[in-house]
Amino acid sequence: MRLANRVAIISGGASGIGLAAARRFVAHGARVVLADVDADAAYAAAAQLSAEGAEAIGVEVDVRCYNQVKAAVALAAERYGRVDILLNSAGGNAARVLGRSGPFHELDIEVIDWGLDVNLKGAVYFCHAVLGAMIEQRSGVVINMGSVDGVTGCGSPDYSSAKSGMIGLTKSIAILGAPHGVRSVCVSPGPVLTRPAMAKMRTRLGRAAEPEEIAELILYLCSDDAAFITGANYVIDGGRSVGGPY
Ligand SMILES: NC(=O)c1ccc[n+]([C@@H]2O[C@H](COP(=O)([O-])OP(=O)(O)OC[C@H]3O[C@@H](n4cnc5c(N)ncnc54)[C@H](O)[C@@H]3O)[C@@H](O)[C@H]2O)c1
Repeated sequence: MRLANRVAIISGGASGIGLAAARRFVAHGARVVLADVDADAAYAAAAQLSAEGAEAIGVEVDVRCYNQVKAAVALAAERYGRVDILLNSAGGNAARVLGRSGPFHELDIEVIDWGLDVNLKGAVYFCHAVLGAMIEQRSGVVINMGSVDGVTGCGSPDYSSAKSGMIGLTKSIAILGAPHGVRSVCVSPGPVLTRPAMAKMRTRLGRAAEPEEIAELILYLCSDDAAFITGANYVIDGGRSVGGPY
């Protein structure tokens, strides 16, 4: 029980890595708030976790809307009394999510806006909304989902720059939070099998990660075992970013 009685808000918690992390969190005694733009999926995931004996609620949040972000944090505080963990997992490749394709410079600017806003601005909004309460209670952990693309630049420019921004956000929150017992860590995965297509991405280890492998790292970073870790970027990519010819 590494997270006994802690309360976690997970943006993008209705699926993929966010949901896998939620599962690890509740298995270790946490209560979770699944904040996702896909309301039905968030409610269904929370209902499933609750049916398995966990304390979980789903809430509809578009991370691009600050009032919805703020309302989700207020709901967590009202329902569970505090917020100990924020996992910013909402995100994805904008062109894929929006069903557009084409060279970067030919994409509609709305696609670029989605890539920047969901992958970075939403996380900044959530940090803004939770940090006051974490400072007041003198504890808290923020985990930002980056990507190996944010380290290498090998992604669409909107995605890579947003994910690099998650590293900067992590460092800033680490600096602001440290005097108040608040930690912040970025997790930058390589390909993860939240979609079958990710199996085609090359890594040194010759495979993509299971979402649970990323969730296990997140669990560790949120736990007191990681009490001396803040401001760091954890690359978990099967060696994809080490460079050199394959
Ligand atoms: N899967 C990978 O290979 C991989 C690799 C590196 C980084 N990541 C990052 O990990 C995070 C999770 O990815 P995943 O593979 O689990 O994706 P996923 O699509 O399974 O989950 C993303 C979740 O975010 C939600 N979401 C999308 N837009 C939103 C918005 N505006 N407001 C709130 N929620 C919104 C979706 O509804 C979905 O539930 C993302 O930030 C992604 O960029 C994923």
